[in-house]
Amino acid sequence: MRNVTKDNISDVFMGYMGPDVNPRLREVMQSLITHLHGFAKEVNLTHEEWQTGIAFMERAGEISDAERHEFVLLSDVLGLSSLVDMINTRSEGTSSSVLGPFHISGAPPLAIGGDMKGGFGGDVLVAEGIVRDTKGAPIEGATVDIWQTAPNGLYSSQDPDQDTYSFHGLQTTGADGRYAFTTVKPVEYTVPTDGPVGDILNATGRHPWRPSHLHFIVKADGFRSLVTEVFPDDDPYLDQDTVFGVRDDLVMSYRNMPAGSFPDGFALSGMVNEPYLRVDFDLVLVPSEV
Ligand code: BEZ
Ligand code: FE
Repeated sequence: MRNVTKDNISDVFMGYMGPDVNPRLREVMQSLITHLHGFAKEVNLTHEEWQTGIAFMERAGEISDAERHEFVLLSDVLGLSSLVDMINTRSEGTSSSVLGPFHISGAPPLAIGGDMKGGFGGDVLVAEGIVRDTKGAPIEGATVDIWQTAPNGLYSSQDPDQDTYSFHGLQTTGADGRYAFTTVKPVEYTVPTDGPVGDILNATGRHPWRPSHLHFIVKADGFRSLVTEVFPDDDPYLDQDTVFGVRDDLVMSYRNMPAGSFPDGFALSGMVNEPYLRVDFDLVLVPSEV
């Protein structure tokens, strides 16, 4: 096409694609290009604004490395990560929620009733529940990969003072489907703001806070893997999570448990004499064929 115009450029783009292009790629590109061109036309994008966008991408690339994923963070604060989660969640099971950039693979095994708190201070939290299917049956042999920040609000990969796997653990359920561990009550924290995504939050008058949460990745043969997180109902940022991760069914309540009631069967049994917190939260997996 020689006479490319504002009105036909999206069609011209599609016409340039070869005849054997993968149909899904064609569908995605058609929509992406139509919306991208439509966006530029709708806001009358200036050269200066376009250059600002390109410079942003360059800075995001420069600051990213094996442990820092600025484009994932961008997707998170734009709500795209959560939107993809919601598009792909099955309503019969526990909702999925953002993975975030701080999961590390290879977490050490954590026995049922094991402790992630170690020597850290903070309110003791007993967390347990059943990994079950949508009919309520417990799932044996499910792996539950758990991670959270230390009480200082930093994940181990952000904090040189923590061991690599501090506040990370991998449990495997028995025939009763139960996971159970002790930890410290998670705290709210900010997403990284020292890069270009922080500049966007700042420029748009947004705060960088996430409500406190525990992360889980749950996997079991024959079921869709679940990446999710759970949030306490009293967190001040519950209704303003900067990465849009909160869903109704992921909100839980802590129960205040009295001194002297700490349960048996935990690594800390017999060692916690003060009041502590408890949360019971089942994780529901959907069969892989659904
Ligand atoms: C997190 O929960 O670890 C997280 C999610 C999105 C962006 C930053 C952190
Ligand atoms: Fe997190």
